[in-house]
Amino acid sequence: MINIAVLGYGTVGSGVVEVIRTNQDIVNKRSGQDIKIKYVLDLREFPGDPVQEILVHDYNVILNDPEVDIVVEVMGGLNPAYNFVKSALEAGKSVCTSNKELVAAHGAELLAIAKEKNLNFLFEASVGGGIPIIRPLNQSLTADEITEITGILNGTTNYILSKMTDEGSDFDSVLKQAQELGYAERNPEADVEGYDACRKIAILTSLVLGKQVDYQDIYTEGITKITDAEIKYAKALGGSIKLLGMSKFVDGTVYSMVSPFIIGKDHPLATVNGVFNGIFINGNVLGDTMFYGSGAGKLPTASAVVSDVVDAVKHQGTNIMTIWDSEKVALGDMDTFNCRYFVRTKSKKAEVEAAFGTVSYVTVEGLDEVAFLTENMTEGDFNQKVKALDMIYRLRTAL
Ligand code: HSE
Repeated sequence: MINIAVLGYGTVGSGVVEVIRTNQDIVNKRSGQDIKIKYVLDLREFPGDPVQEILVHDYNVILNDPEVDIVVEVMGGLNPAYNFVKSALEAGKSVCTSNKELVAAHGAELLAIAKEKNLNFLFEASVGGGIPIIRPLNQSLTADEITEITGILNGTTNYILSKMTDEGSDFDSVLKQAQELGYAERNPEADVEGYDACRKIAILTSLVLGKQVDYQDIYTEGITKITDAEIKYAKALGGSIKLLGMSKFVDGTVYSMVSPFIIGKDHPLATVNGVFNGIFINGNVLGDTMFYGSGAGKLPTASAVVSDVVDAVKHQGTNIMTIWDSEKVALGDMDTFNCRYFVRTKSKKAEVEAAFGTVSYVTVEGLDEVAFLTENMTEGDFNQKVKALDMIYRLRTAL
């Protein structure tokens, strides 16, 4: 018998309890042990919910109970999650978490404690919701030098952009729907400003490099300024707008960013719509591979958390080697990043051509302005040239 304790009975925590109760036989069989939820920790009461019988409000009850083998942290945020997780590991309990803020900020340290104690610190649900991506990166794509990892890593913003594209819906009402469906963060600014995707690409890039990529160093731009006009221009260019978390490894330089991009209809991530996430990886010997699935929501995220519980049970007494040292990676300067830029401007075509030379113009009915696509150029070069124009907005593209 393996006893687990679930910290937090919110969307994901209640999902973990539901997944274990629904699939108890399967989970027991696959882990080779009977898994029992001994405690659920939450400050709130849940009258009428069977969880009430195992509900505790004091973390010390869990920490000091030697019968608790695995702690499942699904509270989110850094405090008190960081102290709870660290003390659980120090007390000899493996930890499974969905908390990307915690993993991005303290992953290297928590993995080191788990290694030293012969335990496991697992975080499959921290990136891509229910999509297996951490375990494949750590255990399957080990023969390759990874050259690119690009993902639609936030379900809420992908849901918003998809609805704006398909139904012409406005930003605020779609965000409200995403919140009601349980996709959004408690503070949806983390979704729409790209902070959530930033934590996730930081985690993936740290795992690829085996070193610390600080999320604070990652250029991050959200989708709050995207309007119906940008959506229409993207369609006129034969593509769509996606919020991408991207790391490219070019001649020893790592470019890492979160940004809305116009991508073409042939891009591998073009058909990833709604709350779905997709993660595209290129390896030098494998070539391209894609991971696709539900990127947010109660049960998909809980499915990934419970898969970690099964892995922790299967590896009791053995640390699953995960290389993520605290040595910090210096990221490439965005000024040297290369792409084609889409620009809306109040300036005339003659001014555009004086600044950029040859460009490809794009028009949308009813919009009385100049819009164009540049040739491939560095971001530094683009920023210099665009100064000559009265710019309305610009978007990076992968066209
Ligand atoms: N708010 C996140 C999203 C939840 O929308 O993707 C999953 O991390």
